[in-house]
Amino acid sequence: MSDQTPTSNQTPRSQIDHLLNEDRRFAPPPEFAANAIATEELYAEASADREAFWAEQARALHWHKPFTEVLDWSNPPFAQWFADGELNVAYNCLDRHVEAGNGDRVALLWEGEPGDERRVTYAELTDEVKRLANVLQGLGIGEGDRVAIYMPMIPEAVAAMLAVVRIGAIHSVVFGGFSADSLRARIDDAGAKLVITADGGYRKGKVSPLKPAVDMALSDRNGSGVQETVEHVLVVKRGENEVEWTDGRDIWWHDVVPQASADHAAKAFPAENPLFILYTSGTTGKPKGILHTSGGYLTQSAFTNKIVHDIHPETDVYWCTADIGWITGHTYVTYGPLANGATQVLYEGTPDTPHPGRWWEIVQKYGVTILYTAPTAIRSFMKIGRSVPKQFDLSSLRLLGSVGEPINPEAWMWYRKVIGGKTAPIVDTWWQTETGAIMVSALPGVTETKPGSAQVPLPGISIDVVDEDGTHVGSGNGGLLVVTEPWPSMLRGIWGDPDRFVETYWDKFRAQGYYFAGDGARLDDDGDVWFLGRVDDVMNVSGHRLSTTEIESALVAHEATAEAAVVGASDETTGQAVVAFVIIKQSYLNENSAEGLSNTLRLWVGEQIGPIARPRDVYIVGELPKTRSGKIMRRLLRDVAEGREVGDTTTLADTAVMSVISAQVK
Ligand code: WTA
Repeated sequence: MSDQTPTSNQTPRSQIDHLLNEDRRFAPPPEFAANAIATEELYAEASADREAFWAEQARALHWHKPFTEVLDWSNPPFAQWFADGELNVAYNCLDRHVEAGNGDRVALLWEGEPGDERRVTYAELTDEVKRLANVLQGLGIGEGDRVAIYMPMIPEAVAAMLAVVRIGAIHSVVFGGFSADSLRARIDDAGAKLVITADGGYRKGKVSPLKPAVDMALSDRNGSGVQETVEHVLVVKRGENEVEWTDGRDIWWHDVVPQASADHAAKAFPAENPLFILYTSGTTGKPKGILHTSGGYLTQSAFTNKIVHDIHPETDVYWCTADIGWITGHTYVTYGPLANGATQVLYEGTPDTPHPGRWWEIVQKYGVTILYTAPTAIRSFMKIGRSVPKQFDLSSLRLLGSVGEPINPEAWMWYRKVIGGKTAPIVDTWWQTETGAIMVSALPGVTETKPGSAQVPLPGISIDVVDEDGTHVGSGNGGLLVVTEPWPSMLRGIWGDPDRFVETYWDKFRAQGYYFAGDGARLDDDGDVWFLGRVDDVMNVSGHRLSTTEIESALVAHEATAEAAVVGASDETTGQAVVAFVIIKQSYLNENSAEGLSNTLRLWVGEQIGPIARPRDVYIVGELPKTRSGKIMRRLLRDVAEGREVGDTTTLADTAVMSVISAQVK
């Protein structure tokens, strides 16, 4: 499918060289270093005995039955961590804090978009989860059953995740911005028995309905050949929007949860019990259900949250802005911070509603000390200008984090100066849905930071940058990022597709046994890592992963489209933007304006996949650049989309086609 080679990724060479010459360095502020949880010694401890190091981190959790084995890697790439141990993930995130006397500590400082608020303590959240666990069991949900969660950012969403895993069931959270079709595909792939949703949630000043999409996803299965697996839909009332009701199937949360018993003993499950499935875009049209299990995932989530976000649970107010529909929301909203007993902000809405300073108002209101967000958000704030954050008191912030895509040095410096008051360390954290938790990052209070570089692997993590043959490339050279040793929170597979798991991540460097991440990277002379974007057909738009193929499939599913090619073009705000080149069937061309068709197709993709996948531009063209073997040369289309001179066209079947396309998109 792809004509890309590892070195022809999105970042032009000149820019990479410029990045590698970055010589600004920021030493940890002494007062931060004095109280930092991370220490330099962690690196030495981990390299002295990696497995003993992870075992020690795992023992920070509560084990109903302690493990005696650490890692079983006898059947790569199928790893088992702490396999003979037993624990309950929800118990670790809730009950044990209450039992330790911290039940009155606030777990969630929830802020609704319209400005309503709720404070939920650990004792209250524990109660709610126990009640819901009883309700779920009453609905016949048991160990290993799958539950789809399609919810706004409200406390019930976090409670839903924890109640599902408390009883040994498996959740599949589907981002609330996904369409009914995307939801349906995920429900079907996992064979979900229950959907937990809300009537709607607030987004951009109005109620964005969710229940109607669930209804649509579950409607009219007759004749589709798909066996309906969903027995019930549990609905939280949030948006107060009118919803349709299917008697017998639909249940209001408020009719069953408050009434349920709050007595629920947490049962112990084996460490390798499946915890959740999270779908993410791959290089084909079909999203992959990434499978995570319990003990190893929780160990690395809690540990990295503690040392990278420097969580002091008694004093910090932590805020990770990610939606629970993405891995960042799983690991650094639900599991990591709650396992650590942290107090965190949970915000329902968009950053600019009802005014562009909304986030900074929240930081001021709650005295947020640690902020973890995405470069795309930082860049859009940069665009609005520093006068907006300057209206708020941000002096409580002592640590800033970045995740989801490379952060360019300019955005990094702006984040430091304008948001961090020139003192707060910034941690740029690299990881993936598949890695489950942070893999590469500075340690705040320990590492001298460098704008634009994610820097070094965490203690206990081994990575390298290699060429196509798996050979270490050495400093200054570009290559592919690999993980060379198994890690506790690694994915355990792709739901229902073990072959695809092996092919996608392990076949490329089978001889060496390396995990292939799909990211291009370079090492500088200090051994710091610079991430250069994806080397496959995966785009990264506002920190969200989208597949070019998936959007192409959506485009050709429209009756007007004959052929389509999609590329991720650099975009100042969103990192990459979706740009589509579409060939329209002649009859439609005669009847419609190109502009009208472009708009129709943009909206169509939004409906098919979700608004995040909507192309920034849809260019109607007469032809697409193809090699003689018929492969679309996306590299050339990217040149056009980014307004560059078109690169080498000699391998094209018809070399004139690019000048025609260039003329057509002007
Ligand atoms: C990219 C998000 C550079 C990368 C946690 C990766 C990054 C993909 C960074 C995973 C970073 C994430 N610097 N690139 N700090 N963090 N990425 O699965 O391309 O949504 O492969 O997980 O985001 O995206 P995912």
